[in-house]
Amino acid sequence: MISPERFSSPPRAGPNDVEIIVEPIAPSPERQSPGRKKIILDCDPGHDDAVALLLAHGNPDIELLAVTTVVGNQTLEKVTRNALAVGTIAGITGVPFAAGCGRPLVRSIETAPDIHGESGMDGPELPPSNIELDPRHAVDLIIDTVMAHEPGTVTLVPTAGLTNIAMAARREPQIVERVKEVVLMGGGYHVGNWSAVAEFNIIIDPEAAHIVFNEKWPVVMVGLDLTHQALATPDVVEKIAAIGTGPAKFVTELMDFFAHTYKDAQGFDHPPVHDPCAVAYVIDPSIVSTRKVPVNIELQGTLTLGMTVADFRAPAPADCHTSVAVDLDHKKFWNLVTDALVRIGEPHDDGSSEGEVRDAGDAAGVVRLERAHVTAGGVK
Ligand code: BDR
Ligand code: CA
Repeated sequence: MISPERFSSPPRAGPNDVEIIVEPIAPSPERQSPGRKKIILDCDPGHDDAVALLLAHGNPDIELLAVTTVVGNQTLEKVTRNALAVGTIAGITGVPFAAGCGRPLVRSIETAPDIHGESGMDGPELPPSNIELDPRHAVDLIIDTVMAHEPGTVTLVPTAGLTNIAMAARREPQIVERVKEVVLMGGGYHVGNWSAVAEFNIIIDPEAAHIVFNEKWPVVMVGLDLTHQALATPDVVEKIAAIGTGPAKFVTELMDFFAHTYKDAQGFDHPPVHDPCAVAYVIDPSIVSTRKVPVNIELQGTLTLGMTVADFRAPAPADCHTSVAVDLDHKKFWNLVTDALVRIGEPHDDGSSEGEVRDAGDAAGVVRLERAHVTAGGVK
């Protein structure tokens, strides 16, 4: 059993006047153009969903069009409350947040308290939210958003069960052709975490996953094979703590909790931070290598329900529209996360931010964060 005080997130040794080095991030080709990558984040926060949202918000190459929630790590009510809290901590304004499906298409609800706690995001104390929920159902918001943008410009980034995405594809089939690609965290071609061969986001709603993987849009499966490389090692957590802002402290508290549950429930020495890997791939595909391979979802197997069956026999058929993530550049990945947190700075209620460096960048587009001088009060 987990004792509550174990996760009461004591303040970390304060980095008073600590100098941190943030590796310069090479400009992606699209950073040099005015067009940022438009994404809808469909999530179930969730410790790693929270980091995915912070990364999406803080990265200058991403235009976050909407945040939608779906039952998963906890009930819809809880994960929606968590999403709004993360949005408040990050100072997100002008982005619609909408709640979606409260249960899977066919199956009963299955949540993950052993990993994410009773609230779905145990560890840090959450502030009351200053973000009002969009009145639309998430499925409608997804459809409206995709249909309102040029075809081929909106990427869906689901980091939860695929219920909302499957519902949207059925409700408005035109989105399938309009969406640029679906970059999802889920599945795994050699490993499971909720059964021997199935991953949580897929097994909680395998019928929805079956719909999403069988529609003809490009699907990039950022599965466990990849995300188990995204470990929040102590050096990573220290680097984040040294930023010294509220959002950075929030992430270290999330990681404290996540480290304990992943150790207890799955024997990990350091927790794998799955969901931001999908966002990182959208930002800079060079961080995540992929391989084109047909993938389908097992719906019948008594031992293999929810398995993402990848057919590695070569060559992949010409019409193959699915690929799987293989290798992660750990250093570049965590630099992206750290960079996003530095940029987010210390947000105020009106969405402005102390220490905000969103516009920092020289003519070549290289972000000048090589030497951020940080105090306990914020980024200078
Ligand atoms: C996935 O399941 C959830 O618990 C996490 O948020 C992540 O999306 C990992 O299997
Ligand atoms: Ca998730």
